[in-house]
Formats: sequence, C-alpha cells, structure tokens
Amino acid sequence: MSDSSDSAVGRAGGKVILLGEHAVVHGAPAIAVCLEDRTEVTARRRAGPTALEMPSWGICARVDGRALADAALAGLIDALGAPRDGLSLCGETMLPARAGLGASASIAAAAARAVSTLLGRDPSNAELHQAVQASERATHGNPSGIDAAAVLGAGVMRFSRAEGAVRLDVPPPELVIVHTGAPGDTRLTVAAFAARLAAEPIEGPRRLDSIRGIVERGVDALGRRDVAALGRLMDENQEQLAWFGVSTEALDRACAEARAAGALGAKLTGGGGGGCAIALVRPGDRRRVAARLEAAGFALVPA
Ligand code: MEV
Repeated sequence: MSDSSDSAVGRAGGKVILLGEHAVVHGAPAIAVCLEDRTEVTARRRAGPTALEMPSWGICARVDGRALADAALAGLIDALGAPRDGLSLCGETMLPARAGLGASASIAAAAARAVSTLLGRDPSNAELHQAVQASERATHGNPSGIDAAAVLGAGVMRFSRAEGAVRLDVPPPELVIVHTGAPGDTRLTVAAFAARLAAEPIEGPRRLDSIRGIVERGVDALGRRDVAALGRLMDENQEQLAWFGVSTEALDRACAEARAAGALGAKLTGGGGGGCAIALVRPGDRRRVAARLEAAGFALVPA
C-alpha cells in the first residue's frame, strides 16, 4: 500500500474456490485459493458524497444512490466508520465481473484498505473482513465470508462460517481458469441452491454432507500432494453442484473439454450460473488443456 497525505492506495486479491462453494453458505467447510494482487483502489479527499468509480467496468457508485453497487459502497463505508461525504475512490481490477473470482469482494477490500490508510487508521484483518462482508451482504444477500477472507488473504485456505479462515501449509494447486463468457449472478444461484436444499429434505442434506466429505478429503489430498485424488474430488463436487442446479451447459462443456485434454478434474468455481470453471492440471499438461479450451471458444483468465 502506498500513500501520501491526500491520497492512498489499497490492493487486494481475487479467489477461486477449489471445493465447497454454496455448501459453505450452509455451514460446510470449503477450500479457496487466493489470487494475489488483482485490484487497486486509490482514495482521495474530494467534496461531495463519497463515491467509487471503476472506469473499466463503467461503474460509479455513490453512498447516497439506490443501485446495488451504491448499497455495497454504503455498507463498506459505514462498517469502516468512514465519512459518507468527502471521499473519492477510483479503482482498477484485473478480475472479470460476475465470473466467480471474487471481484466484488476484491474491490471492497482494496477500497477498505485505501480508505483506512487515507484516514490514518490501521484496521485489523478481522475489521477489514467485517467491512467487506457488509458490502457483500448488500451485493448478494447471504455471503458465507469465504470471498472476503480469500481476497484479504494469501495462499490456500480452508474456510467455514464457524472456524473462519485457516491457512493450509500447501503449495497452490496448478489450475487453468476458464471463462464461459456468460455472467453469473451469485445472489440468484445462492437462492437457487438453498431452494433445492429445502425442496429435497432427504436428498438435499445427503448431498450437502457429501460435499462436506469431499472438502475434508480435499484438504487431505492437498496435504499429501495427491493431485490425482484432488482432481477426482473436483469432478465429484461438480456433479453435486450440477444436481443443485448451479452449473450451466457452458460450464459443463468447459469441464468436459478440460478433462478430455488431460485435466485431472474440473468444476465450476464460485457462484456458478455462468462465470468461470477451473481445471486441475499437471504442470506439463497446462499448455495442452489451455489450447483445447481456447480452441473450443473459451477465454482463459490468468491463474
Ligand atoms: C461465491 O464465491 C461463493 C458462494 O459459496 C457464496 C458464499 O460463500 O458467500 C457461492
């Protein structure tokens, strides 16, 4: 973070969820991999209502506005105890919007850091997490907290609502991130997952438990550096997510293409309903898997 007396810069990462998205909202653990340093926000003092501009996304949010982005900014500013007047924030992110990579949390986290530095404060990670969560609540209703933890963190983490984030002492898995090109809507998919869980009172909880087991075995596989087992767990997780209705034809196709090109496993990542899939590869297979996905019309996102 750099700063001068009248401006300050904050940075934050993005994330991929390796295993356990959606189930984590309902109390299960999940594993996230942090994508470090993807977003930068500069905060300055300027007369008028506090506002956040993201020129490349064509977004200008104001604390006194009525849109979702406005409410997200207001949530963040209020949680930080920062002034609703007199701050101008301008940001850039390398993360695609609505792609399951934590862009909204990343922007909120970078903004929180920039504002804190500008105001001469040094908030704890827990305080920053709380502020990002306030912003995420406005955007997607019922966030588990995994996105906020991952964009503020580093490396690979196990996260649950009860235990928070625990960093795993393992190297990040070798992933190819592939974008279907269609935007996802986490608010909608979180609601759809919850609705299916409620509508299937026996099968839903059974599958939720199965995802819980997949994540625990995933933590174990990461610890043993057993990439073949990890890949199979990703495939199993994808089957469960598809049953809950949060995958799409394009996500299924991206996963199938990646597996056919030699990926050890593949699944959607984040909210689903569009957005990105991830494929686990052996280092030597990365180029082949990436080339096949591109030939099939998908765009790649730097991992
Ligand atoms: C979104 O990145 C992950 C979800 O599990 C929602 C959440 O945990 O807040 C779908």
